[in-house]
Amino acid sequence: MKPRFITFEGSEGCGKTTQISLLADWFKQRGQTVTCLREPGATPLGEAVRHLLKHDPAGHGMAAESELLLFTASRAELVRKVIQPALTAGRWIICDRFHDSTTVYQSIARGLDRLTVSVINDFALGGTVPTLTLFLDLPAAESRARMLRRPRPVGQTDRMENEPPEFYEKVTNGYRQLADSEPSRIKRIDADGDKRTVFEKILSEVKNAFHGQLD
Ligand SMILES: Nc1ncnc2c1ncn2[C@@H]1O[C@H](COP(=O)(O)OP(=O)(O)OP(=O)(O)O)[C@@H](O)[C@H]1O
Ligand SMILES: [Mg+2]
Repeated sequence: MKPRFITFEGSEGCGKTTQISLLADWFKQRGQTVTCLREPGATPLGEAVRHLLKHDPAGHGMAAESELLLFTASRAELVRKVIQPALTAGRWIICDRFHDSTTVYQSIARGLDRLTVSVINDFALGGTVPTLTLFLDLPAAESRARMLRRPRPVGQTDRMENEPPEFYEKVTNGYRQLADSEPSRIKRIDADGDKRTVFEKILSEVKNAFHGQLD
């Protein structure tokens, strides 16, 4: 049996959280147990790291190397405390961002050495790799427009959302490159449609990847 482990990837605002919620409901309607996780976070250590990375003034201007190690520290904890035990118990795991985000943001977009990032990523994962990764591909400008329309707590800024437009172009192109390099795991989904249309494409990939494991 393939590990029941699905990750969602793509730029800010491309619809990951929206689609994860639809997919989780779909699994639950079929009587399946599903755990949805977000990266970084989902463990006490991970949530503290998330705050540092996204909102805490202590994180402002951090070095790209520190950012890489904080993301992967959160992931190492998540894999060992939550993901591995759940997969062993036969549960479905859906994760909002995972190791591909590190490859794309820290290596392709921020320019850290690709091989070093890959070694650190692998160390954090300890062999726990998703069976299916859904990359929601949306033009960077549309992603940004959706992101800015999204409701958010008053006065809260997010360090990762304040990058110049070129950064988001690099992210989108980075995901496309990565998807081309691992076509059997990473499925590129055209996310430029209404929520239901995008969801139908996702469902078709889930059914393909887990054929025979959905009942
Ligand atoms: N297919 C769609 N068409 C139009 N708007 C959408 C679509 N999917 C999601 N949205 C809206 O776009 C905004 C961003 O969606 P969502 O929060 O799901 O993206 P995300 O990928 O999780 O973003 P982030 O990486 O920042 O968490 C939300 O306001 C959501 O309601
Ligand atoms: Mg989200």
